[in-house]
Amino acid sequence: MSHDIVLEGNVFIQDSFHQCCIGIDDGRITAVKKILKGDVHHRFSKKVLMPAGCDIHVHFRDPGLTQKETFQTGSTAAVYGGISCIFDMPNTLPQTTSISILKDKINTASRSMLCDYGLYAGITDHNFKDVIEIARMAQGFKIFLGSTTNSLLLSPLKLPLVFEMLAQTKRPVLCHAEDAKCLKRTQRMEKDLKDHHRSRPPLCETTAIKDLLRARADHDVPLHICHVSSKDSLDLLKDRPTKITYGITPHHSLLNIDSLPLSDTRYKVNPPLRPKEHMHALFEALSKDQADVLESDHAPHLLKEKNEEFNTAPSGVPGVETMIPLFIYLAIKEKISFSRLIDLTCVNPAKLTGIRKGSLKVGFDGDIAVYDLRHISTVCAEMLHSKAEWTPFEGYNAVFPTNVFIRGSSVIEDGECIRRPGFGNQVRTREDND
Ligand code: NCD
Ligand code: ZN
Ligand code: ZN
Repeated sequence: MSHDIVLEGNVFIQDSFHQCCIGIDDGRITAVKKILKGDVHHRFSKKVLMPAGCDIHVHFRDPGLTQKETFQTGSTAAVYGGISCIFDMPNTLPQTTSISILKDKINTASRSMLCDYGLYAGITDHNFKDVIEIARMAQGFKIFLGSTTNSLLLSPLKLPLVFEMLAQTKRPVLCHAEDAKCLKRTQRMEKDLKDHHRSRPPLCETTAIKDLLRARADHDVPLHICHVSSKDSLDLLKDRPTKITYGITPHHSLLNIDSLPLSDTRYKVNPPLRPKEHMHALFEALSKDQADVLESDHAPHLLKEKNEEFNTAPSGVPGVETMIPLFIYLAIKEKISFSRLIDLTCVNPAKLTGIRKGSLKVGFDGDIAVYDLRHISTVCAEMLHSKAEWTPFEGYNAVFPTNVFIRGSSVIEDGECIRRPGFGNQVRTREDND
């Protein structure tokens, strides 16, 4: 039998690379074998084939903040970074908190996206009663317990009720864990990154995480703690129950305030970058099988917006395009294993969101990124595709994909995007299929 498409190369299966073929029909992987025949046969003999990544935490700013990013520019950046699927956050304008706003967002996304996508709806003090209805159109929910860029707040007192309702939807809920009351006590005038760290200390993160764990205890809701930033939180989450997951960003695990220019507003992000011992602990949680997900928290702001006074400059850094390429370089250098990297960026994000992606196995989407591990490049803002036009990782070594396939179709070919906006589909999840 001949498959629609066959990709051949060093394929990552189980724990290592094997020279073999992947057969894809109607967008799905139908065979993984030493030799396969295809109507179209792509040979990547010296390159490696890995599942394309899934970034469960991006802010593509569409609608309302499209000077910073759009679905089109954000998803272009994603595919150039080896990512075939993103999940977009609800702190846009208007905020994604109702069915009608979601419908509009889906409309724009369906015309603009280059990769597949899911959308989160925000849960606030005002819409939490509509959660079950909203779950029909959103792939998951987001809760902000403390304010950050254009955020939507939920009072921790509402958490038990919200988890009760979420239990009926089976959708995952992702949380920005910084406690608003705690932040009120600690927040101060900020002149630099150290002030920002003291203004939003690890204590406010652990306070929020404790509230979340307590409120979720009686409900079987998949709960994901976003962008964990401190070793205190890692300790709290060490013996977490199943279905509670947490993510770490590239910036929290690779950057720290002991070795950055302190007054540089570009590195202002929530939760803040911390002293180096936190960074080391976070990287170790990623590399040593503790953390569940590597998420970019791609939060683009223009340089002219960042160049305000420190105290009023917006928080957030871009990162969707550099996340996997930076970590592939670290895997080549044996700072993290390829197997861990694939769990963190492919397998676990797909499990958490319930999508059939992230593994090179029969039945999964033919989402594949191809890398030439001999070709190490240096990150520079000019080569990236976000509207932010800057990166906190300028000058870092990275390996970008030469080719990316989504559902078996070539999207990046020899380093160039060859698809039109609108190629990306909204994902169907386990719950939709049930
Ligand atoms: C994010 C943004 O700009 O939307 N900012 C940030 O500092 N991380 C919001 C968020 O994820 O907290
Ligand atoms: Zn956040
Ligand atoms: Zn975020």
